[in-house]
Amino acid sequence: MYDLILKNGKVVSPEATLEYDIAIANGKIVALGQFDESLATRVIDVKGKYIMPGVIEAHMHCQAPFQGCLGANTFYEQSISGAFGGVTMFMDFANMSKGDSPYKQVLARAEEMAESAIDYSVHGKFVESTEEAISDIKKLSEYGIPTFKMFMTYKKEGVMSDDETLLKVFKVAKSVNGLPMLHCESNAIAEMNIDECISKNDMSWVNFAKCKPVLCEAEAFDRAVNYAEYIDTAILVVHTTNGKALDTARRVQSKGLPVYVETGPHYLTLFDDLYKGENGHLAICSPPLRTPKEAEELWQGLQDGTILLTGSDDCTFDVDEKSMFLEKNENGTWKQDFTKVVNGLSGLEVRLPILLSEGVNKGRLTINNVCALTSTNIAKIYGCFPQKGIIAPGSDADIVIVDMEKEVTLSKEVLHNNISYCLHEGMKIKGYPIMTISKGKVIVEDGKFLGEKGAGQFIKRKINPEYLKKYGLN
Ligand code: URP
Ligand code: ZN
Ligand code: ZN
Repeated sequence: MYDLILKNGKVVSPEATLEYDIAIANGKIVALGQFDESLATRVIDVKGKYIMPGVIEAHMHCQAPFQGCLGANTFYEQSISGAFGGVTMFMDFANMSKGDSPYKQVLARAEEMAESAIDYSVHGKFVESTEEAISDIKKLSEYGIPTFKMFMTYKKEGVMSDDETLLKVFKVAKSVNGLPMLHCESNAIAEMNIDECISKNDMSWVNFAKCKPVLCEAEAFDRAVNYAEYIDTAILVVHTTNGKALDTARRVQSKGLPVYVETGPHYLTLFDDLYKGENGHLAICSPPLRTPKEAEELWQGLQDGTILLTGSDDCTFDVDEKSMFLEKNENGTWKQDFTKVVNGLSGLEVRLPILLSEGVNKGRLTINNVCALTSTNIAKIYGCFPQKGIIAPGSDADIVIVDMEKEVTLSKEVLHNNISYCLHEGMKIKGYPIMTISKGKVIVEDGKFLGEKGAGQFIKRKINPEYLKKYGLN
């Protein structure tokens, strides 16, 4: 007897879309084919709908102290918001300051995340290369954490890794089949420009983006790639925003160097004109939003395989946190000072809808591409495939059902992310998740959350060494 049969759906993988039933028992997919309804406790007919592996979010910052802020959601609330966007597993980063043990910080973070309703994991983070810190790389990978994040900027915030740290982490990560993850922005360029704005007393929202132009990101991207080439190791660059960086990636990917690239939904759909508005601070993130030209370059990168990953980089700060260090002018407008605004945007719940609508329904991507970009490739590169990221016998029954005809106008009211604004307010979406299943249990149905606090489990990860030797996830 099965617990659940999904009948008549169009089952999506990166390679194909095929019609068959899915039989689920004890949280796992146990068989694919055609099954009699009498064989299951519950049968859901999903005729006309698409069945995709649950979305995996490998890039978010929840309850992460940063620039004096923390974020609006607990991990449980974050898992609810994610579930409405089809997310069935997420990963966050260890909180790190100098002197902290990366290993201990990962364990502490995993404990915090245990209240999640969906499965979860943690990335290590490095902010220095002391012997103790570096020796944690092996311990972490043995514990099931093979991914290590480093920031190439945020020196003043105390979390930047210097070049020596990058090289040391690259080298030791390579020896344990680990994968360094990089936030690429040149601290030197950003800091010089920011200091100039401060000296001119012009810290407008618009100037924030000017301080961190494409070259600020592309220089750091280039440097990280050169170091990866020197050490001959794999790296993953998060939240890439422009074609200049992608050209660097193309140059080395074509030689087989495993440089993996992620971009996020906000860089595809939101632009730097938002910084011209009074509430432009709500759109402050790093790297900053760019122009439609860069967004087109990203779509091109998604189409030609230069970008194999998407991540939301979700930072759910409400207006009060985004504004908490700002003052107002006499006329009630903001005294614009980007140095006092926490960086980061919310995006966990809208990543799949945006890719379905702007990607598939606008003819830029296939639904199979979106499956790879939101789930299969993420599971592969972060080391939880085939437990996650695929609809196949033996895999966890983490599933999202999608209605490609469903139309939704994005607004703060339709999202579940606990904040009082939506940067995509008014954006018309066609193609939306309508049901989310986590380990065989329906957790979102008919607009209701049915999951359970604490039902998520920590997922140990191990990356297939083939993905780290040569570019590509096949
Ligand atoms: O602006 C951003 N992206 N904030 C979160 C931290 C980071 O840089 O990823
Ligand atoms: Zn970042
Ligand atoms: Zn981030």
